[in-house]
Amino acid sequence: MARLLPLAAAISLLAGTAFAAPPDPVAQRAQALLARMTLEEKIGQLTQLGAEVPGPNQEKPEELIRAGKAGSVLWTIDSDLIARLQRVAVQESRLGIPLLFGYDVIHGYKNVFPVPLGMAATWDPALVERSQAIAARESWTAGINWTFTPMVDIARDARWGRIVEGAGEDTFLGIAMARAQVRGLQGPALGTPERVLTSVKHFAAYGAADGGRDYDSVYVPEVLLQNVYFPPFRAAVEAGAGTVMSAYMTLNDVPASGNRWLLRDVLRQDMGFKGFVISDAFAVQSLENHGYAADNADAAARGLQAGVNMDMASNSYMRQLPALVKAGKLPQRVVDDAVRDVLTVKLRMGLFEKPYGDPARKEAVFNDPAHRAATREAAQRSIVLLRNEGRALPLAAALKRIAVIGPLGDSGEDIKGSWTVEKGAGVTVLEGIKARWPQAEVTFSRGGDMQRAYALPWDANDGKPAPALMPAAEQQAELAQAVEAARQADTVVMVLGERANMSGEAASVASLALQGNQQALLQAVVATGKPVVLVLLNGRPLDIAWADAHVPAIVEAWFPGSEGGHAIADVLSGAVNPGGKLPVSWPRSTGHVPAYYNHNLTHANEADRNFTSRYSTDAPSSPLYPFGHGLSYTTFAYGAPTLDRTTARAGEPVKVSVKVRNTGAVAGDEVVQLYIHQRAGSAARPQRELKGFQRVNLQPGAEQTVSFTLGREELKFWSPATMAWGVEPGAFDVWVGGSSTAQAHAEFRLTR
Ligand code: BGC
Repeated sequence: MARLLPLAAAISLLAGTAFAAPPDPVAQRAQALLARMTLEEKIGQLTQLGAEVPGPNQEKPEELIRAGKAGSVLWTIDSDLIARLQRVAVQESRLGIPLLFGYDVIHGYKNVFPVPLGMAATWDPALVERSQAIAARESWTAGINWTFTPMVDIARDARWGRIVEGAGEDTFLGIAMARAQVRGLQGPALGTPERVLTSVKHFAAYGAADGGRDYDSVYVPEVLLQNVYFPPFRAAVEAGAGTVMSAYMTLNDVPASGNRWLLRDVLRQDMGFKGFVISDAFAVQSLENHGYAADNADAAARGLQAGVNMDMASNSYMRQLPALVKAGKLPQRVVDDAVRDVLTVKLRMGLFEKPYGDPARKEAVFNDPAHRAATREAAQRSIVLLRNEGRALPLAAALKRIAVIGPLGDSGEDIKGSWTVEKGAGVTVLEGIKARWPQAEVTFSRGGDMQRAYALPWDANDGKPAPALMPAAEQQAELAQAVEAARQADTVVMVLGERANMSGEAASVASLALQGNQQALLQAVVATGKPVVLVLLNGRPLDIAWADAHVPAIVEAWFPGSEGGHAIADVLSGAVNPGGKLPVSWPRSTGHVPAYYNHNLTHANEADRNFTSRYSTDAPSSPLYPFGHGLSYTTFAYGAPTLDRTTARAGEPVKVSVKVRNTGAVAGDEVVQLYIHQRAGSAARPQRELKGFQRVNLQPGAEQTVSFTLGREELKFWSPATMAWGVEPGAFDVWVGGSSTAQAHAEFRLTR
């Protein structure tokens, strides 16, 4: 994309790097430090080492750090090792530049919050911000000063395992979650005490992998990149994210980690990113595997030139860049610019002044009761009540015999979900139910087992096989025992879904069906005629069409984290009224993906709906549950939305207000959602787009007016006709309600 060089860049290009330092003290310090560095030390700052992985010539990480050949270390949570390596960097290396210690603290460190998809289901950015501040505090104390989160990849395909790590399918919700996470983790500015550096990932469009297969190619036209996939990154950058992680896959045939347009034109020029870019693990090296770089030297040169400042784990920069610069094949200036960004972030973080965490306080911080309480609250608020026919829930306090059934019912590891830092059990559903119903007899039957068919790639590389599947005869015996337990009970709570390692990285699926013998188990237990509640622990929508038709109560608990069992029991008992909403459209079957609500209209008009986008022969096209859906133990009624004006000049804000009333008998939360549609313009716009939401709590009978402002930010879009962002005049529809199928409608018109 041709662009005019900004003046400062043009001057610095003409005058060389010495002239480039802007007059701010941090930049001057970075420049002064840079001037003292050898080429090897500079490349060191562009290198992130695996904590216990030897260097290219079998050097120990410690030796490399002492020689100034590393700027960061990843994959260790050993606080002693971290402190030791930091001492080597600060006290024993020539220039004493402190290290960044990176780790995937995705949803909590010691106290584990729900997985990010669950956090998005809270529709509560303030809670997300508070939660990530807690995760940051625990991380920083332990010595981890950089976390590889938030993942802000929009995901429309539930087969993709990493859908669990993001905020789901919607850009507006994704923006809110991206911003909240960066603020929570980093604080209002880099260098906020007890916070950590963030890394927004995976730039960009990693979630659109072909077929939902992890690491596969992505083909996304610019109109979708601009309108759907980029905005959460832009929001994170604007919130101050210090680093961005480049993705693994090819984007429109150019690997994201060698993609100059992406990393320089879009990220730095359009979005104004001022931090530094880290590659995903080994992604610089894999530029060669992609059939893009000719060899490792070419990979290193092209990664750096494209805009990857720091090479995660592959040691390609360390191995290749010195010779390339010395041979004049890579300008020294490219290296200097990359290093300056890294030093600037370290300086802005105050790392030189405060290089160490506070491991002596680790236990005290980990055991802070407020942290534990926060994880339980987050879990409660993340739970989505999908179905509750005949008010099957909440369960009576007086229940005498409860059977908890299912392979996840008593699994303390699985309840925490993927990307957990420490081993150790969370509160299981069984434990939560026992604690909630102390007088009841609570039994547990696993009812069979399920496992991944293939080992995780890093386990396989370490020679670990996939866990063996339970033999069929044993599955059958466990199933029979579970059915017997159901027969003896007043009520059955079935806990089905996925093991933690069945969603996340390298966990894509060809089918959304319940794995193992879970479907058979569910059907056999339901056939007993006992009241059944289905609790799902999972990182993606699954095919639960049968359950939807046969099980009156279905609770989506995601992977709710270390207090998950308590939070689930709180909801089952009615102590907490669920108020979470789906951050994804729930497909009816695997064949229904990609599923997202904000698709375009088709050639059908109002009168001729037969030609609308649909599966015509075998299945309804609508989702099983729409985006934004979630029930409550109470009910809400909406008034008609009112507008402060029905005509406005393009760019002038329009205020939409709506009255919401709790029409039931108990207090509850509703997420009030606002959707718009622009009827005509230079390009077709989605049939509906979320443009406002607010989670409110209402006492029985209480009414609240909720208002939203539709300003430039909400109304603009990137038009493929003009190749630019703009607000276009024309007619708009507005809907307000409790899901993406909201009916309460109004309209307004923008004029020139
Ligand atoms: C993942 C990243 C993660 C990195 C470091 C990669 O495999 O794709 O999301 O941050 O590993 O652990």
